[in-house]
Amino acid sequence: MIIDCDPGVDDCIALFAAFASPEFELLGVTTVAGNVPVEVCARNALCAAALAGRVDVPVFRGCDRPLRVAPAFADHIHGETGLGNAALPEPARPLQDAHAVDFIIDTLRRAPEASVTLAPTGPLTNIATALRRAPEIARGVRELVLMGGADAAGGNITPKAEFNFYADPHAAQTVMQSGLKLTVLGLDVTLQLRCTAARMARLHAADTPVTRAAAAMIGHVNAVYGAVYGAEGAALHDPCVIAYLLRPELFAVRPAHVALLTAPEAMRGHAGVSPPGPERPANAVWVDGVDAEAAFSLILERMTRL
Ligand code: BDR
Ligand code: CA
Repeated sequence: MIIDCDPGVDDCIALFAAFASPEFELLGVTTVAGNVPVEVCARNALCAAALAGRVDVPVFRGCDRPLRVAPAFADHIHGETGLGNAALPEPARPLQDAHAVDFIIDTLRRAPEASVTLAPTGPLTNIATALRRAPEIARGVRELVLMGGADAAGGNITPKAEFNFYADPHAAQTVMQSGLKLTVLGLDVTLQLRCTAARMARLHAADTPVTRAAAAMIGHVNAVYGAVYGAEGAALHDPCVIAYLLRPELFAVRPAHVALLTAPEAMRGHAGVSPPGPERPANAVWVDGVDAEAAFSLILERMTRL
């Protein structure tokens, strides 16, 4: 599996859960401009790996801007460092020299057919660039399980769009039209997995270096974004991807046709989700429900293993 991410508070928690899970053979973590600039994302991924004791996982820096639109960051939510109030250890190894896109292409070219899972939790710029540059790499992909989009829940960066799809709508469109096996976890499901006061108490009670860092990150999001998230607390968007990969039976899914709009500006990054039909064949599995208590317990249990 390759995790392509923009850490980011919730990306970092997704990384912790993945780092702790022996079910995954982690080939690498690739980073992309999103919540914060790509240099910061790459450093955060290295710091997260250092805290988790996973210095064996190579980290790559990827695209520093979307395919066609100007960069849009989310440091108003994740903080200037991208990790809220958490102070992570310094990186324990350097960044890889190769660009993330080259790593993705090389890995997929060498991989046995349909063997590599891609788990993107940021804007899809790296993945789309790799697919555009080397379309034959699709052969090595087993599936993509990604965080992005919104249907019934409405957007979080505009009324119509979720941040990852908004940040690089052309990349999201390339991925949606790729013909690859896609599972899409958008706000409809991720907003169901919240850091309630009771769950925060469980996180604090775990009291390990990793859970303390996670609590500091989420605490920051709750503090600056409390007016939006309210009493239910911050949503754990990106960890839903890892929870889905570990225990898909916790989630409700339906086949769907997902069409990505890139324009006009008011619709940029909007995911039009409709039931499949003769004129609109299914191109994705759309995830719209989760047993939140079980998913939170799973993520917490994994983090406490580190
Ligand atoms: C997504 O946007 C980012 O801010 C989060 O990390 C998550 O991937 C949610 O819309
Ligand atoms: Ca993210």
